[in-house]
Amino acid sequence: MIIVANFKANKNNKEVISWIEKFNQLQNSFSGNLQVEIVVCPSSVSLSDAFRKIKSLPRFNRGKPWKIKISLGAQDVSAFEEGAYTAESTVKMIKDYVEFVLVGHSERRKYFSESNESVIKKVMLLKKANLTPIVCVSKIEEVKVFDDFAGILLAYEPLFAIGSGKAETLKNVDYFVKEARSVLKDVKVLYGGSVTPENIREFTKDNKLYGVLVGSSSLDPYTFANIVSHAW
Ligand code: PGA
Repeated sequence: MIIVANFKANKNNKEVISWIEKFNQLQNSFSGNLQVEIVVCPSSVSLSDAFRKIKSLPRFNRGKPWKIKISLGAQDVSAFEEGAYTAESTVKMIKDYVEFVLVGHSERRKYFSESNESVIKKVMLLKKANLTPIVCVSKIEEVKVFDDFAGILLAYEPLFAIGSGKAETLKNVDYFVKEARSVLKDVKVLYGGSVTPENIREFTKDNKLYGVLVGSSSLDPYTFANIVSHAW
């Protein structure tokens, strides 16, 4: 299972590093055996320092490996390989730091006119570089746009649920997973939209989802750790 922390346009470098330190300390109190990987997605400015910080964390705690793997993800990437495209962060610039990249987030689509065409270009570049795209869609109809791509992760994020405090129902999430798998065989699906420590168990208990994507409730490391510890 993966639990993604999408910081969006929050936190400077210092705050990202401090978040990683605090979260790592909190792992100490986790019980349970489920394998969880958390994917921290800070701004692209913080990727290299966050990478170094994660690498420098002690690998063992009182003689035992930490329960949680901490990986890094980017919140977006350029649809261009390289060249005269001012302000873009390309796959080449981020690929030494991240394993996952969010693409097509609804905020990119809403505020920055991201189109499915550009999301497709990004997925192609990411796959070429062996990075895992987490393709965000808000309804089942959008899944067929990506039916050529094996190995992507799909994040179902209904618009009404993002940042609203009102999560999607489990019934509708289950329906999405079933329908998505009829288009993209065996695709792994994440759910995102107002995930909290109180509702996480609902989404993870029957193992139909591969993980969750957390925005607002990821900003505070204690709340995020609380989500992780309630995931099993
Ligand atoms: P939220 O955001 O957890 O604040 O609803 C989720 C997202 O945008 O990925």
